[in-house]
Amino acid sequence: MTASLVRLEGVTKRFTSADVLFGVDLEVAAGEATAIVGPSGSGKSTLLNIIGALVAPSSGHVEVAGKTLASLDANALAKLRNESIGFVFQSHHLLPQLTALENVLVPSLVHDDSTLRSTAPERACALLAEVGLEDRMQQRPAELSGGECQRIAVVRALINEPSLILADEPTGSLDRAAGEQLGDLLRSLSDTRSVGLVTVTHSDRLAERMHRVLELRDGRLATFTAPA
Ligand SMILES: Nc1ncnc2c1ncn2[C@@H]1O[C@H](COP(=O)(O)OP(=O)(O)O)[C@@H](O)[C@H]1O
Ligand SMILES: [Mg+2]
Repeated sequence: MTASLVRLEGVTKRFTSADVLFGVDLEVAAGEATAIVGPSGSGKSTLLNIIGALVAPSSGHVEVAGKTLASLDANALAKLRNESIGFVFQSHHLLPQLTALENVLVPSLVHDDSTLRSTAPERACALLAEVGLEDRMQQRPAELSGGECQRIAVVRALINEPSLILADEPTGSLDRAAGEQLGDLLRSLSDTRSVGLVTVTHSDRLAERMHRVLELRDGRLATFTAPA
């Protein structure tokens, strides 16, 4: 038994062209905010995708929200991704033909719980207001700034009330001010909603907002120590 939200033990990943992860151990507690840094090509996205049940490891143990991923079939993995995990990427990936509000509702449409489905519009409006977008709900992505789109993507990731948010370079396409605002928003999720967060980033300013910073190097995770 463990209270960890995420637990990885001895996770390896080898692609035909490259061995990427050589034995990654990681524990993330509920509500904990962790940043992962590391050189380009070191396997950060691969690691995040393994935690998010998008990529299977070559070996090792992966547990998310109390479930051992290797024991789940494709349907159960899809359910876990939809209900327990929210994803945020470098690009917002909003659907251009939908309004901000409609984009936020997309993940709720396939939720198994009809109560969560029917209360989603109410939650979406409250969340959009919380991130300062109450006046933007009916706009489409082309009419919004990059920072606004990325805040909508975060709200979309939250709509099914996940226990874990996985963010891959979430501020990588934003200017400094919008990046700061998004960093504050992500960090506040762990403080006010007890959502666990694992974010891959190149931004020192985002990393330093998290509870701890880990570095992926030579296929393993270690505590990051800033160069002197
Ligand atoms: N699906 C894949 N097939 C083959 N090689 C891959 C695949 N995904 C990633 N890689 C390789 O794994 C390495 C790590 O990639 P990635 O996880 O994207 O690193 P990072 O996010 O740290 O830049 C790279 O060499 C990349 O080319
Ligand atoms: Mg990457």
